[in-house]
Amino acid sequence: MKTYNYDKSTEWFKRAVKAIPCGVYGHFSPAPYVPIDAYPFFSNRAQGARFWDVDGNEFIDYMCAYGPMVLGYAHPDVDAAFEAQWRQSDANSVASPCMIELAEMLIDMVPVAEWAFFARNGADVTNLSVMVARAATNRKKIIAIKGGYHGTTPWMQAPGHHGVIPEDHEHLIRIPWNDIAALKQVIADHGDDIAGFIATPYHHPVFADNALPADGYWQQVTELLHKNGSLVIVDDVRAGFRLHMGGSNEKYGFKPDLICFSKAIANGYALSALVGTEALRVDAAKVFHTGSFWFCAGSMAAAMACLKTLQEQRGPELMAALGKQLTDGIVEIAANHGYTMKVTGEMAMPYLRITDDDNVMLQQNWCGECTKRGAFFTSHHNWFLSTAHTEDDIKHTLDICDDAFKALKEQS
Ligand SMILES: Cc1ncc(COP(=O)(O)O)c(C=O)c1O
Repeated sequence: MKTYNYDKSTEWFKRAVKAIPCGVYGHFSPAPYVPIDAYPFFSNRAQGARFWDVDGNEFIDYMCAYGPMVLGYAHPDVDAAFEAQWRQSDANSVASPCMIELAEMLIDMVPVAEWAFFARNGADVTNLSVMVARAATNRKKIIAIKGGYHGTTPWMQAPGHHGVIPEDHEHLIRIPWNDIAALKQVIADHGDDIAGFIATPYHHPVFADNALPADGYWQQVTELLHKNGSLVIVDDVRAGFRLHMGGSNEKYGFKPDLICFSKAIANGYALSALVGTEALRVDAAKVFHTGSFWFCAGSMAAAMACLKTLQEQRGPELMAALGKQLTDGIVEIAANHGYTMKVTGEMAMPYLRITDDDNVMLQQNWCGECTKRGAFFTSHHNWFLSTAHTEDDIKHTLDICDDAFKALKEQS
């Protein structure tokens, strides 16, 4: 199988490092996550489940823009809804009725939601959720999960990261996932001062196997927190609308007080939402929050079209089935080549790791070999399926995976 070259990407990267600190920053940055000769860094075309890099190489995309793409790039209904609203009015000096219609739609669709509030990025609403919890309880401390990611506001980043000071974490207590004993201990130690608990619906850290909630975990969490007068926040920014149209908590059978959505909500248009229970309506109204672009109505129109289409397509079921087909196939092909591939997390957004070394190098090299052949995978982060991926895409991807394992064998 022919492998790609990235001459134009490399040229652009040389220009990028002169104009932009580290060239490409954040989670799209090449360093230290990927072998740089195996990946493209710039693309200006995407359609359906595919994108093309600046060298013209074609990729079946299993990172889906790290989550926002859920129906396929350039989805005609979503783009038409965006464009119609955007031509009529996007940024404006007053809010759009579109915002109310979208809030009403979320209230109908998400059982926990009795109100909705909109922003642009995931971290806007994870931060806001914590402010609402503090305002509602008049308490300071927030419990979060070790390795859990909620965005880049200083309190969300790991201690020691550049620009983060110890005081940013003064009122944050991290405990291990699925550890009820640790939660009970924190409540025993700080009960009166715990405003809330924030976690993703299942644990999807980077560079580590993902973990579903243990049986009864969320039910115990909500019971313990509520008994303590504290709130439960689900950060559904990454998993929201990929596991369940009513919020991922519905899949796991529990009711939080606040849910944060973003990524898949508008199929790539910038939008996030915080939804909550009636009991928190007044406190949500008291917290001051706004942003220059938070009222842009185009994304809101796009979100309505996206959620409607996802519901019609039974998106969560479809993505889970495609993810299972993909990961079952990879496990089998890996075994044929003498490797053990471990699959964790939810199949609509699985995390894969070759377990035959005690670091992530085998996985990193294999993902690079797949990418050079047209299946865009990263090794440190969960992948994403979309409803635009087809069974034929997956069959072609499995051929790529097979060839990539051969290449991996040759390197060893
Ligand atoms: C679970 C989770 N929460 C919050 C965020 C932050 O979202 P954003 O990058 O849009 O601010 C992310 C982003 O990857 C995420 O995966």
